Amino acid sequence: MNIKNTTDSYGLIAKFLHWVTAVLFLGSYISVYYRHWFTEDKTPENWTALQLHLSIGISLIVVVSLRVIWRIINQAPDHEPGTRLEHLAAHIGHYTLYAIMIIMPITGYVGTGVGTEYFFMFDISKFEDTKIFLTLVSNGFGITFQEFEEPVDFIHKNIFGAWLAWILILGHASAALYHHFVRKDRTLQKMTTSQ
Ligand code: HEM
Ligand code: HEM
Repeated sequence: MNIKNTTDSYGLIAKFLHWVTAVLFLGSYISVYYRHWFTEDKTPENWTALQLHLSIGISLIVVVSLRVIWRIINQAPDHEPGTRLEHLAAHIGHYTLYAIMIIMPITGYVGTGVGTEYFFMFDISKFEDTKIFLTLVSNGFGITFQEFEEPVDFIHKNIFGAWLAWILILGHASAALYHHFVRKDRTLQKMTTSQ
């Protein structure tokens, strides 16, 4: 299997980063919905679920950074045959997914008022306690963490988390299945098979 992408298929590294991102996104959703639906406030389970959400989200910051770098230095495979409009839609879809992958973990981290116990191994300071917050937000804009947190949280939870991310991811996965089962082209295989 090729390490780098070829004109026909994604390489090992792009595939690995793509599927790790997908699993971590799923993990972020499962942990936060589990917290809401199956745990009581202020119980150890509630705290564990939150900390798993924060830890998985922070892992995504690392994975997505690597993914963006790899995408810049390694060109994507050629598209399967399709109209110009379909190619344009695929491009817009992929770039919007990249935007979601960057915006979700960042708004999650900067808008959270508790520190992260990273998979219960070590602590990561909350944004409010960092020099960046002090210099950029507190001194720069002259606002408190509470004033800053409110709109950021709204974006993280209500706009992107509840709606946009779901619509995009489900649309993206459906498009991949449509290509595989209806168009019967190599779109899904480019991201799955060990070619
Ligand atoms: C791709 C990564 C992430 C996804 C998909 C995601 C998704 C979500 C969603 C959907 C909610 C709202 C749940 C609800 O109100 O029903 C939420 C809440 C929250 N997220 Fe994230 N998040 C991610 C990363 C992060 C990160 C990196 C942090 C912080 C380090 C974080 C901190 C929080 C906090 C504190 C809440 C409120 C907790 C709660 O309502 O139970 N998130 N997240
Ligand atoms: C079951 C879930 C998923 C399936 C079946 C799937 C399938 C695929 C396939 C087949 C491609 C190649 C498309 C092409 O060459 O035109 C692809 C690319 C891509 N996927 Fe997914 N995907 C899934 C989940 C996700 C998730 C959760 C994200 C991010 C939140 C994501 C982000 C992307 C991006 C950004 C690309 C473009 C890669 C590039 O060219 O740089 N995917 N996916």
